[in-house]
Amino acid sequence: MGRITKRFPGVIANQAIALDVKAGEIHALLGENGAGKTTLMNLLCGLYEPDEGEIRIFGQLMRFRSPKDAIAAGIGMVHQHFRLVESFTVAENIILGQTKGLWRDSPQRLHAHLQTLAHQYSLTLDFTARIWQLSVGEQQRVEILKALYRRARVLILDEPTAVLTPQEAQDLMATLRHLAAQGTAIIFISHKLKEVMALCDRVTVLRDGQRVGTVAVPQTTEQELAQMMVGRTIKRQRRTDPPERLPQTEPALILKQLSVMGDRQHLALRAIDLAIYPGEIVGIAGVDGNGQRELEEAIAGLRPFSQGELWRTGNLAHIPSDRYSMGLLTEFSIAENLVLRDVQHPPFQWRGLLRLAWIRKYAVDLVQRYLIRTPSVQTRAGNLSGGNAQKVVFARELTRHHQVLLAAQPTRGLDISATEFVHAQMVARRDAGTAVLLISTELEEILCLSDRIAVLYEGRIVGMMDGASADVHQLGLMMAGKTAVGHAQLADQTPSFYPAEADRRTRD
Ligand SMILES: Nc1ncnc2c1ncn2[C@@H]1O[C@H](COP(=O)(O)OP(=O)(O)OP(=O)(O)O)[C@@H](O)[C@H]1O
Ligand SMILES: [Mg+2]
Repeated sequence: MGRITKRFPGVIANQAIALDVKAGEIHALLGENGAGKTTLMNLLCGLYEPDEGEIRIFGQLMRFRSPKDAIAAGIGMVHQHFRLVESFTVAENIILGQTKGLWRDSPQRLHAHLQTLAHQYSLTLDFTARIWQLSVGEQQRVEILKALYRRARVLILDEPTAVLTPQEAQDLMATLRHLAAQGTAIIFISHKLKEVMALCDRVTVLRDGQRVGTVAVPQTTEQELAQMMVGRTIKRQRRTDPPERLPQTEPALILKQLSVMGDRQHLALRAIDLAIYPGEIVGIAGVDGNGQRELEEAIAGLRPFSQGELWRTGNLAHIPSDRYSMGLLTEFSIAENLVLRDVQHPPFQWRGLLRLAWIRKYAVDLVQRYLIRTPSVQTRAGNLSGGNAQKVVFARELTRHHQVLLAAQPTRGLDISATEFVHAQMVARRDAGTAVLLISTELEEILCLSDRIAVLYEGRIVGMMDGASADVHQLGLMMAGKTAVGHAQLADQTPSFYPAEADRRTRD
């Protein structure tokens, strides 16, 4: 890619950017939220046309008028937000848009071919499952397989590990190394420097739509990369202990023998007992797919219980793991998204009329406070970069009056500074007396923030430990289902009394 420029109304997303990637190379693209990474890759995969500049593949000048052209030229992209048809099966999604193909007419041969491909790259998948039934990690495997099926020679992955567990990320990295060894050029976008150092050959860093530089991994360090990204040095925040809990404090959120069905008609949560007190962060550790999504949805009131009870004192703020289907209206403006949950109340409304000037002023203030990068508050939320979209949800939820905060994968896709900011905000909420439930597949995040850690495995809480003294090794074993703690040891987690003022929900 040479001297690529792409402008959007009010933003220069890419400014005269040069990028060269060799066959067999894994090339990282780094940069803060809104730096222009996704845009550059959208140009390469034919979603947009550059305003200026050129794209060459194996020396040949290309002009992509649509993603079809780019696919034909051997470019495959696994997007930051997947583009799968929810109601179709895995196999249907993979062949979607293929008008002519060797296996088109024979489902048996298609399946056999997909099995071989999947096996070759250790991508375990049930081809007859429908997309909406899959976890995010599984959906990503579908996207990768789809690109491989179309014989991609250049494979672009936009923050692929953001949605994966450490083990899944390891597996993906093995797959990518394997692909590169066979000559595929891989472009890998990530906010995780450790991963970039472990996996990639070279790194190109973007900042504010411009290329800062390209360096070879053996010749650089995490610190240098971080500095190139933000243009200054950053320091890590330390976790602090919570204020002492008063002995008489009642839990703000209680789950009592809660059981919930998953989408595949299996029991996704099995008799969960959990109590969260004001002023503490309880982290739910676990490998993705062990009931996290169902737990989140049940607490948020988006999924019925099959058994048990839920008690909650006060309002719930919810940072959803899937910000696009649960958190944001992409066709609406940033300002509209920021007031979404309270627009029917004052001060946003008065005598049935929306107070637009008020809403605008409020939105401008939040955009500044939460460092949301956008040309204006009237911009469509769908046009924000991935990380900035997450900041909009975060800003809206944290400014609502709440006593319980449910944060599911709150920093997924956020850059280093934004992650630090979100962590600091969560600790501040806790110190102000909020009961915080953090569901995260990032073990580092769980360890850094939690006052108590519960381990979720196959829908059960198999262990509970103190955050400050948690043993990483034991935590890892529990997450893998290796050491289950007996129920008796967990029994003291259930409070013997229930708050009088709480909202109580039972089997719906
Ligand atoms: N379709 C669009 N319309 C208008 N502006 C856009 C559009 N797509 C991207 N932008 C803007 O271009 C800039 C770069 O966005 P981009 O998505 O490329 O960032 P990014 O580096 O991928 O960030 P992140 O790490 O948050 O995903 C942002 O300011 C974004 O708001
Ligand atoms: Mg992006």
